Amino acid sequence: MKILVTGGLGFIGSHTVVELLHKNYEVVILDDLSNSSISVLEGITSITQKSPQFHKLDLKDKLKLSEFFEENDDLDGIIHFAASKAVGESVEKPLLYYENNINTLILVLQEMRRRELSNFIFSSSCTVYGQADELPITEEAPVKKAESPYGNTKQIGEEIIQEYAKTNPQFSAISLRYFNPIGAHKSTEIGELPIGLPQNLIPFITQTAAGKRKELSVFGDDYPTPDGTAIRDYIHVVDLAKAHIVALERLINSKNIENYEVFNLGTGKGNSVLEVIRAFEKVSQQKLAYKIVDRREGDITAAYADTQKANSVLGWKAELSLEDSLKSAWEWQLKQE
Ligand SMILES: NC(=O)c1ccc[n+]([C@@H]2O[C@H](COP(=O)([O-])OP(=O)(O)OC[C@H]3O[C@@H](n4cnc5c(N)ncnc54)[C@H](O)[C@@H]3O)[C@@H](O)[C@H]2O)c1
Repeated sequence: MKILVTGGLGFIGSHTVVELLHKNYEVVILDDLSNSSISVLEGITSITQKSPQFHKLDLKDKLKLSEFFEENDDLDGIIHFAASKAVGESVEKPLLYYENNINTLILVLQEMRRRELSNFIFSSSCTVYGQADELPITEEAPVKKAESPYGNTKQIGEEIIQEYAKTNPQFSAISLRYFNPIGAHKSTEIGELPIGLPQNLIPFITQTAAGKRKELSVFGDDYPTPDGTAIRDYIHVVDLAKAHIVALERLINSKNIENYEVFNLGTGKGNSVLEVIRAFEKVSQQKLAYKIVDRREGDITAAYADTQKANSVLGWKAELSLEDSLKSAWEWQLKQE
């Protein structure tokens, strides 16, 4: 079976490509390398001893995309990771985000419609819930007004897919709402490669511990949580990658109940920033320099997933612990030196 992975050289995409290759899928990657490096392809090959097809292609290029689909009209499924993902940048450059995240989604769906392709997996995010009224967060929790253009692209993206699915019963799609993906492949051949100042906690922690950053800023210790710092659901990227295969196979084997479905992907466990710091210090045997600063605008107090639907309907469960994730992230960081 032949699967297209857009954004397949990115953080989550590369780990998913590895899992697809392990399961003997034929993989074609489209990526414009705007937030990844071609060296990731070598990492994938080194882990799997297989070379997926790779095309450097910007999905915004309608003509090139169409040519690609012309030559690849036999795709059994598409996993669509490609998007811009920096929340702060999206506030500064909203049009860039709407263009890259929404236009490209529409172009891909149009090509799928033209060629009657189905089985589409979309990278969504728990940001669609905002600060949920109840924890853990189920898929039934209302979608709240997005805090940033990035978050809005995920909400709009889901709506576009859902509305298109309504008009086309032959088309099936699943949106996967990720909580906080972290960690790296145990081989240390692939991992998270943030360009510039990391936006996420874990790369900031590992870069600080490695001496690349002076100290970590902890945004706020006056949240209404047990230790005052914000709580998130950190999921190992390899667990997350595996969920994509399960979701894809659900569609390929027509096991889905609706032709558009949504699943949360998290561990179901919330950890505060201070808990993550302590756990990191334990697994790395490093003392981490950090300071408490003001809250960051747009950050919510707490988010962690109710994973029951993914567990029972998809038959998938996150297996790796926070310590496993942090250890792999640290080993990956050490390899970058
Ligand atoms: N990492 C997270 O915390 C997180 C959380 C929730 C959702 N997501 C979503 O998951 C997806 C993957 O995230 P990631 O962390 O792997 O990000 P990433 O930036 O590492 O990967 C995205 C990949 O897409 C490529 N890309 C971007 N625009 C493109 C375009 N126009 N044409 C071709 N390729 C393009 C980039 O070069 C990159 O390799 C994204 O849609 C992101 O919004 C990520």
